[in-house]
Amino acid sequence: MPVQRSLFLHSDLRRRPQEMLRRMSEMIDPDTPAHGPDGPVAVLERRMASLLDKQAAVFFPSGTMAQQVALRIHADRRGRRAFAAHPQSHLEVWEHRGYSVVHGLRCHPTGDRHRLMTLADLTAIGEPLAAVVWELPQRDIGGLLPEWDDLVAQTSAMRERGAAIHLDGARLWEAQTYYARPFPDITALFDTAYVSLYKALQGTGGAVLATDADFAAEARVWRRRLGGDVYDAWPLALVALHGLDTLLPRLPSHRDHAIAIAAAINADGAARTVPNPPQTPLFHIHLPIGPAAAERAAATVLAATGVELLGRVRTAPDPDRCSFEITVGENAMAFTPADVVELIHDLLRHSG
Ligand SMILES: Cc1ncc(COP(=O)(O)O)c(C=O)c1O
Repeated sequence: MPVQRSLFLHSDLRRRPQEMLRRMSEMIDPDTPAHGPDGPVAVLERRMASLLDKQAAVFFPSGTMAQQVALRIHADRRGRRAFAAHPQSHLEVWEHRGYSVVHGLRCHPTGDRHRLMTLADLTAIGEPLAAVVWELPQRDIGGLLPEWDDLVAQTSAMRERGAAIHLDGARLWEAQTYYARPFPDITALFDTAYVSLYKALQGTGGAVLATDADFAAEARVWRRRLGGDVYDAWPLALVALHGLDTLLPRLPSHRDHAIAIAAAINADGAARTVPNPPQTPLFHIHLPIGPAAAERAAATVLAATGVELLGRVRTAPDPDRCSFEITVGENAMAFTPADVVELIHDLLRHSG
């Protein structure tokens, strides 16, 4: 059976091109130019700069490119090649080490791979750093966030050591629901802040790097150099603008729903969540079965009910355990906490 409902993807747009075309035709002002200062990309860049309270914001086709460019510029400016990041940072795990292969940079993996970086981890680094990256929230460990005071202490300690302070804010929108502070309070801690257009904002792709005007100008040079200066990027910007209008205000309710789903799962006890309670709309569900069994069972549940429960199953040191990620967006809002508990029981029943 094809996917009817999904707990996994927060976006129905990426799954249904027809739905995206319908929304775009609804939202577009017939006088909107594709390009130029009033085109969607320029409007989005100005809006992001203002929302994040930075002098400028630069559209990129991907966060992968935006972050590597940010780190490259920080490194060149400081004449240092190393940056620090969590061992499970996106840069380290998911980008085929582009920072090294393309830009000649070195990552100094910092802290325990299953915990957040601490001030002690950071201050113990012996080599001069071009930059430090904070991924907020730290996706691969369940969407954990440092407490606000810890984040302030860590960023100011590393700034004092001469490192640039960079935010991997792919999920800044989700992180803000925990800190419950205005976006500028958070981005003020960082020299460069990358945000994603296609996670909570449910766009079709794309990223924005917000920073000061000089840095933005240099980032535009690198964007061109790397082939990221996509001429007709306006559809991506348009969908992201729609997400800012319609979804950003709903993020706190996504977080509340994540907490309610997690509470039901933990009360039931067949599975458990990390963290408990979730800090953001993203959290992990840990299962008492191995990864192959979980994948088989998820396929059986999908075939029988049309419900897609999970995307990628994460392995664990114990071969008889595994976990998967849930991000509560519009899709998951359609499942009650009791629905999710029942789905987990279905999954476990079919795992034998
Ligand atoms: C934490 C984090 N950083 C960076 C990225 C890279 O974004 P993109 O897919 O736009 O290259 C992702 C994408 O999933 C991410 O989760």
